[in-house]
Amino acid sequence: MSRWIGVCLLGLAGCAGDEGITEDTGTLDRVAAVRALTGDEIAGGALYDSNCSVCHGADGSGTSSGPNIRGEGGSEAVEAMLFPEDSMPSFDHLADQELADISAYVSTL
Ligand code: HEC
Repeated sequence: MSRWIGVCLLGLAGCAGDEGITEDTGTLDRVAAVRALTGDEIAGGALYDSNCSVCHGADGSGTSSGPNIRGEGGSEAVEAMLFPEDSMPSFDHLADQELADISAYVSTL
């Protein structure tokens, strides 16, 4: 739950009006859409190596640029990629299937 409050605080303008509510609903729908897909761990592994390992390490155990994310596959990873916090960049430019693949791979770490 704290993630949603964090997103709201970071985007104060987005929380103020009806437009913000529509956007929030849109992103929540996207998490659900990604979660409804079956991720391909093999494809996800390649995407993880090129997009995530620089900060989270090849085995997910973390580096000085990002925390240990082992055991944080599934919705945790999808939400982190769509609603990143701190210095993590957004991966909302990736396709839903790519997000599902990465999240499936993170579950294997
Ligand atoms: C530039 C460094 C960087 C990159 C690249 C990066 N992350 Fe992160 N990530 C972070 C940092 C820093 C945090 C801690 C944010 C916080 O304070 O919750 C984080 C947090 C997370 C979390 C934990 C969120 C939580 O609240 O527990 C997950 C899961 C995660 N990242 C997955 C990924 C995945 C998957 C990728 C690749 C698509 C990725 N990250 C790419 C830096 C990065």
